Amino acid sequence: MDTTQRKWWKEGVVYQIYPRSFQDTNGNGIGDINGITQRLDHIQSLGVDIIWLCPVYESPNDDNGYDISDYKSIMAEFGSMEDFEALLSGMKARGLKLVMDLVANHTSDEHHWFKESKKSRDNKYRDYYHWWPAEKGTPPKRWSYFDVDGNAWKYDEQTDAYYLHYFSVKQPDLKWENPKVRQEIYDVLRFWFDKGVDGFRMDVIPFISKDITYPELPEEYKGNFIPFYSNGPRLHEFLHEMNKEVLSKYDIMTVGETPGVNIDQALKFVDEDREELNMFFHFDLMSLDRDGDEVFWMRDEPWKLTDFKGIFSKWDAVFAEKGWGSLFLSNHDFPRSVSRWGNDSEAHWHNSATMLHTFLLTMRGTPYFYFGDEIGMTNAYFDTIDAYKDINTVNRYALLQQEGVALEDFLDNEKDAARDNARTPMQWDSTRNAGFTTDNPWIGVNPNHKKGINVASQEKDEDSVLNYFRRMVQLRKSNLGLVYGAYQLLLERNEQVYAYTRTHENESFLILLSFSTEEASVTLDEIEFDKLRLLISNDAAEEEKTDSKFVVKPYQAMVYQIL
Ligand code: GLC
Repeated sequence: MDTTQRKWWKEGVVYQIYPRSFQDTNGNGIGDINGITQRLDHIQSLGVDIIWLCPVYESPNDDNGYDISDYKSIMAEFGSMEDFEALLSGMKARGLKLVMDLVANHTSDEHHWFKESKKSRDNKYRDYYHWWPAEKGTPPKRWSYFDVDGNAWKYDEQTDAYYLHYFSVKQPDLKWENPKVRQEIYDVLRFWFDKGVDGFRMDVIPFISKDITYPELPEEYKGNFIPFYSNGPRLHEFLHEMNKEVLSKYDIMTVGETPGVNIDQALKFVDEDREELNMFFHFDLMSLDRDGDEVFWMRDEPWKLTDFKGIFSKWDAVFAEKGWGSLFLSNHDFPRSVSRWGNDSEAHWHNSATMLHTFLLTMRGTPYFYFGDEIGMTNAYFDTIDAYKDINTVNRYALLQQEGVALEDFLDNEKDAARDNARTPMQWDSTRNAGFTTDNPWIGVNPNHKKGINVASQEKDEDSVLNYFRRMVQLRKSNLGLVYGAYQLLLERNEQVYAYTRTHENESFLILLSFSTEEASVTLDEIEFDKLRLLISNDAAEEEKTDSKFVVKPYQAMVYQIL
């Protein structure tokens, strides 16, 4: 199959929802499933096609649902299975597809399998998890993302053994090497597909295969353990098996979350002939402003547009003939896109938010937006540790406190880097709590909902970020060339303007995007000016072009058709 073969998941625009923060309907300060159902008209009005719903399964919420204690029931705080079914039928009635989150590298320690597994060494669930008997000594070092000590092995007295947890102590890793575990997961997938779910985003999927001789961490991975975690010996065997046994039996889509996966490995996951996944999220962009291998630490120097272009251009080339890419600028694990890749100051917020929309919607690959992007929601920039709810911030703070590190630096870092920046409640209107809840919200609401960053105010304004987003989505949908067209980078070395063309059959487009607070003037000799027709721009100001020169205003975006 070649890249231009049409598929609904290539042509669709995805809208990701973090349910805890979307809409509360029962007044407990926590978003719920009925809240999403209630807001389906809004979602439909955006023109998006697919909702990716972060985990809604039963969970003690150590990591906000990414620690599942029952894969087949709905978290009580979010509602019931009936509520879920009502959501799904409301979506189907509107032609919206639903992609759920599969978190199967680990479960919660409160999952029935783990509770049994830890009871005794001969329990029938013992081999569902990775155990290291203490009589063998201390297990070889493994790092953990959310552990207060950074240690992924936790000693458990009951059976005098350590269990493995790449994430928090309450997220023990499943042992995929055990065929029974794989069958359990396939059964979970079938359960949701049979209900009519249209696909899965697969949480840290490349971590599922481990070398179960648990060798010492090879020297080359000591600075950065992530590529070691994502290169397990049986990974592709497991993905292929999952595809053959379950995925291939349904008309669904899959997108893996793949930290540690680079361009050389890319097609192993998504070359259709290999029958594994449809798409994945690489982490190259998400590391661009981070400090080397320290994924949660900001770098001091600002990121450069040429590097940004380099990442997108390199990844576009990977999928030029086979496979398919996914495009995202933010999600529930990273800061808000306008604050990170644009500029959320009053002067540039509107143009940079809409410029970023123009970018994602004119690139090749499936675009994923995160709830609130449509109105240009910004970072929370919390000032105090108490404002943070995320285990990642809270536990790292505790660790640094133990180590005596200056906490002001940490809080400074979290202002830009924290996941909670993107977890504040959806801003529906300018009333108290932004229309999210009538009670105290589980996490602070961004005060800028009173300053126009809310749905109700933006509905009324033709030029709002919201209405631009809608127009831009329609533009992509009415021009298949923006979905399938070949991408060609122009102005490779320019640090202010990102320019490229997209060409498909007899359609051709020129896209000009400013990533600068200064006006820019660029020359594009390869473009014949009298053949350009402006399709959309985010700046009401008249476009200025003379001969071969374009004047591009700060954060201006322009899409031209080349006639
Ligand atoms: C993924 C999720 C993140 C979660 C982690 C552990 O990276 O996106 O939110 O904390 O996996 O499940």
